[in-house]
Amino acid sequence: MKILVLNGPNINMLGIREPGIYGKNTFADLLQLLQDTAKELNIEVEQFQSNHEGDLVDKIQWSFGKIDGIVINPAAYTHTSVAILDALKAVSIPAVEVHISDVNAREPFRQISYAGLACCKTIKGHGLEGYREAIIYLNQLLNHKIS
Ligand code: DQA
Repeated sequence: MKILVLNGPNINMLGIREPGIYGKNTFADLLQLLQDTAKELNIEVEQFQSNHEGDLVDKIQWSFGKIDGIVINPAAYTHTSVAILDALKAVSIPAVEVHISDVNAREPFRQISYAGLACCKTIKGHGLEGYREAIIYLNQLLNHKIS
């Protein structure tokens, strides 16, 4: 079982960027949480973060045939990127969308998610814990423990 966690622009600035919205935990804390979750579930978790839309599209395409499930926080590209949506649709790998903040309670432009249209679940407003929940969900889904 191999899960890819994809993070979009400015997620590498966690702990520095708007701590009132995204919390005080750092990007290094997130990487640790991903490794701890992988160990707990005895699965492989690979992480990729980029500030560039095309790099995220490339990584989604690369996943085809190599990755069983994708956890994606496209960050600002959530609300703009048809290219990321199309890439997720192209590879057809089960995907879960994660947002650290509760995007529903924020500006109107954050209410639309293109990537979310290709995801089987969205977790928002649970902080970094949302990534753990998403990995657990995908692991159960891929092991046919939930449908
Ligand atoms: C975010 C929410 C987006 O609206 C924002 O642009 C981000 C992070 C979140 O995780 O809450 O960069 O995806």
